[in-house]
Amino acid sequence: MEYPIFDLPVIGGSLLIAAVAIVHVFIAQFSVGASFMLAMAERRANREGDADTLAFLRKYSLTVLLIPYVVGTITGVGIWFVTSVVNPRALSTMIHLFVWAWAAEWVMFLVDVTAIYLYFYTWGRIRPAAHNAIAWIFFGSSLLTLVIINGILSFMLTPGQWQPLAEGGFWLAFFNPSFWPTTLLRLFVCFALAGVGAIALMAISQDIVPVVRQKITRLAYRMILPSLLCLPLFVWTFLVLPRRAQVFIEGSGVPMGMFFAMGLTCFLILSLAAIVAMIRREYTPSTLATILLVLFAFISYASFEFVREGVRKPYVIEGYMYSTGVTTAATDGLDARANLAVLQKRGVLSAAPWALPVGRRLEDLDTKARGQAVFRATCGACHQPEVGYNALRPLVRHWTAPIIREYLDTMHEQRPMMPPFPGSNQEKDWLTAYIDSLTERGTP
Ligand code: HEC
Repeated sequence: MEYPIFDLPVIGGSLLIAAVAIVHVFIAQFSVGASFMLAMAERRANREGDADTLAFLRKYSLTVLLIPYVVGTITGVGIWFVTSVVNPRALSTMIHLFVWAWAAEWVMFLVDVTAIYLYFYTWGRIRPAAHNAIAWIFFGSSLLTLVIINGILSFMLTPGQWQPLAEGGFWLAFFNPSFWPTTLLRLFVCFALAGVGAIALMAISQDIVPVVRQKITRLAYRMILPSLLCLPLFVWTFLVLPRRAQVFIEGSGVPMGMFFAMGLTCFLILSLAAIVAMIRREYTPSTLATILLVLFAFISYASFEFVREGVRKPYVIEGYMYSTGVTTAATDGLDARANLAVLQKRGVLSAAPWALPVGRRLEDLDTKARGQAVFRATCGACHQPEVGYNALRPLVRHWTAPIIREYLDTMHEQRPMMPPFPGSNQEKDWLTAYIDSLTERGTP
């Protein structure tokens, strides 16, 4: 709405965001946990005068911290680019609200990057205690970046008492109802990922003495174990979710329930494996076990992120803005351009000039082409037209024009993941003509 439309054929914009974000957050959270693990292990090795472990940690600080940093930075910039082309209006709202949070995050990031470089280049050159202090600064600043970003992410799902333009809006938005449980959840996930990462790194490194291998593996299991506390945190998060999102997670025929169950299963297996290994004092996991650990960690983490993104539908900011960039009817006094109530009166194309083919005017287009423009403005955020992500053609294969037209009146009631149609009745007719051309009868 109000911005040029980014069409990504077949895959669709929201899957692209999900893919970039999942990789980025995976690396970022791993790095937060790894910095903690490093700081802890170094302190202990310093105390014990354990030169072998220190030698391993030096290597670990390069492979586990510097390399993710490079990938993390690239995907981090990628997220900004992708969200700004896929949902510019939502990003604009977020920047209006959170600009200082992002500024603070940037400062933390600066401390973070400086600390990791200092840390790596001062190994053996400064006093051990001072060197270890840099690791703690690194952990502290990366933890703060996580806390800040999570304030923003959790706001999108549970804005709570926040009202646009109201006093104290920033703090209400930031410390929203799911802020604490999700921040703690992420922290435990960070620790678990760092543990799994350390085990994986040792599996591919040849020259580690057995004693060090054993010590680090034991520490890694200890990093994974607290993630069992995620269970009560899941419950806490679930309880503060909007009822609509709770229903999605409970199942109700939507894949969200399935993904959640899959994430939970993998996560439980991971924790149980760590417990059993600790009880049996098995500190040399086989290659197969290591691969499974990494796989389970990734699947459970990615499923939860996917569910978090998914249960927000039809909103991008719960209760305030739909995934299409249209604000809800409740805010029609604030938004005179792309608000649901306004658009239903004036027509969605009045706020979506880029939905038309380049250089063409509405008057020049036939009914079907007008309908296609309406589709791009109102459905394209979640549906590909013919093939690919949530493609419409297979969904409406057997539909007829009257059924389609009627469906548009009540689509948000039929499928609560969809927003109400944000346009005029005439636009519904145009869209019906376009969708009809996608059905079995319409397809030549
Ligand atoms: C916010 C995302 C979103 C938007 C915007 C959206 N849809 Fe959907 N739509 C979905 C999802 C998700 C499903 C699958 C729902 C399910 O499985 O319960 C769906 C399903 C459908 C179905 C299949 C319904 C059925 O009962 O089998 C049709 C038809 C459909 N959408 C049409 C549209 C049209 C037309 C538009 C634009 C006017 C639109 N959608 C806009 C998310 C969206």
